[in-house]
Amino acid sequence: MKKWYAVIGDPIEQSMSPNMHDAWFRENGIDATYIPVHVKAEQLGDAVASLKRLGCSGWNVTVPHKSAIIPFLDEVDEEAKRMDAVNTVKVLDDGTLFGTNTDGRGFVRSLLEIGADPNEVNELLIIGAGGAAAGITFALESAGFGKISITNRTIEKARQMSDAFPEGSALSLGDAQKAIDKFDLIVQTTSIGMNFAQSGIPLDPSGIADNAIVADIIYNPLETEFLRLARIAGGKTMNGVGMFVHQGALAFELWTGIYPDTKKMVHTITTELGGK
Ligand code: ATR
Repeated sequence: MKKWYAVIGDPIEQSMSPNMHDAWFRENGIDATYIPVHVKAEQLGDAVASLKRLGCSGWNVTVPHKSAIIPFLDEVDEEAKRMDAVNTVKVLDDGTLFGTNTDGRGFVRSLLEIGADPNEVNELLIIGAGGAAAGITFALESAGFGKISITNRTIEKARQMSDAFPEGSALSLGDAQKAIDKFDLIVQTTSIGMNFAQSGIPLDPSGIADNAIVADIIYNPLETEFLRLARIAGGKTMNGVGMFVHQGALAFELWTGIYPDTKKMVHTITTELGGK
């Protein structure tokens, strides 16, 4: 029987996940489909029960349900627990609802895909201390990437997050700015620059080290002002398309056992979003 998968969120119309997963199902000859489901916060419990009852094989979870869904699941892996966020659910053969989080690992995969080498990254700066930052930082640490510094507008949140890492430290935005040339890898995780609605830059990357890798997890626009300045300053830059594609690929692999073609998908989505 045809299998079906979903993504739940509010709003959900803008999600690129259905097209991405449907393309991968086709490419791999899998008889399945993937649909967006609009779920409001107060309907989450009912929605989870309904998805299960209607035979959904697995689903992605997006804003605002990533933490709220945890109590409705039967099993949640360590990574998702540490992040207090689930982005992927698999319905196991016995009906168990298993939750994990592929966002951080997706980011790391995209970084490796552009040639980043953990052995060449000694000093690493994370900008932001929200949910996205936590997932990415855990995954970077697991993959063996450098000494971690976290900077955030609210320094207290950077301190709390850095406490979870043996070698982590927190910096004010001002101190991070002064030390910007010492980092080999800089990861921008805040919403500043997204959709041009939140204009500005969290800090100025103009003084970065030669060959520094600078990533922004935003993909709309494809190049934020922060990333543009980093590119002009000679940085090797990466936008958020790769992370989006790889978090989806890891979910796809969990559901089907196949890691799909990510390079082609990064190219397709970049073109759709107006890039070359
Ligand atoms: P997400 O789960 O996407 O990371 P979040 O948990 O709301 O979202 O975190 C948003 C991050 O962006 C935070 O680090 C936030 O800084 P604060 O902790 O000081 O709120 C940061 N952020 C958002 N808008 C910002 C702005 N205009 N200037 C600086 N930092 C901002």
